[in-house]
Amino acid sequence: MSKIVVANWKGKITTEADAVALARGSDREGMVICPPHAFLDDVGAALSHASLGAQDYAPDLAVRGATYVIIGHSDRRREGETDDVIAEKLALAVSDGLVPVLCVGEVRAERDLGQTHEVLKRQIATALSRITMGHPSIFIAYEPVWAISTTPGAELANPTDVAHTIAFIEKEVLHGGYPAVVSYLYGGSVTASTALGFLEKKDILGLLVGGASLNEKEITTIWQQAQEA
Ligand code: PGA
Repeated sequence: MSKIVVANWKGKITTEADAVALARGSDREGMVICPPHAFLDDVGAALSHASLGAQDYAPDLAVRGATYVIIGHSDRRREGETDDVIAEKLALAVSDGLVPVLCVGEVRAERDLGQTHEVLKRQIATALSRITMGHPSIFIAYEPVWAISTTPGAELANPTDVAHTIAFIEKEVLHGGYPAVVSYLYGGSVTASTALGFLEKKDILGLLVGGASLNEKEITTIWQQAQEA
């Protein structure tokens, strides 16, 4: 079974030429490319196999050809985006016909205090609360913030621990009875040499990749591993 790879370029690509070149080099079935908003049109035009995604909700995404949108990424939560705003963006994305990739995850201090489950429970319950009908497809990416490359002193998460946490999230979603079809991704840092450990877990249906998605060779290797997982 092949798994999905969502490439979150964040703000690292700054010119149209670089965006188009990286898009062409990453253009494969099963990839979702999320460039900065300014490059959506150029990247969309450069893709024939991959899907186009956005890094945050905006009302113009569907008309610009995006089919996926990342919502609630830790970079935005860090800037003060609340669970309520995330819930609103998620509902808007669904009503626009987009597939949301909802990011949830605890910061290091929360993990160290044993609050991971409590934090995830709250993030999920609020984010999904405004989906009232329709059974949309949604991805939930578990991104422990302490395992993301931009967090100082980032750690590599253990794939078995991640699979257990994703099983917990899955249970919460089932328990909530939300009218949505949910699949689960891992959104902490991976590279070509660590991705397989996560892809081998049966409950992890793909990866949300940040830094490694900027390197054509790295992302191609990760994509190949996802095809075979
Ligand atoms: P990273 O980012 O792969 O650069 O650690 C992951 C993310 O922010 O989702």
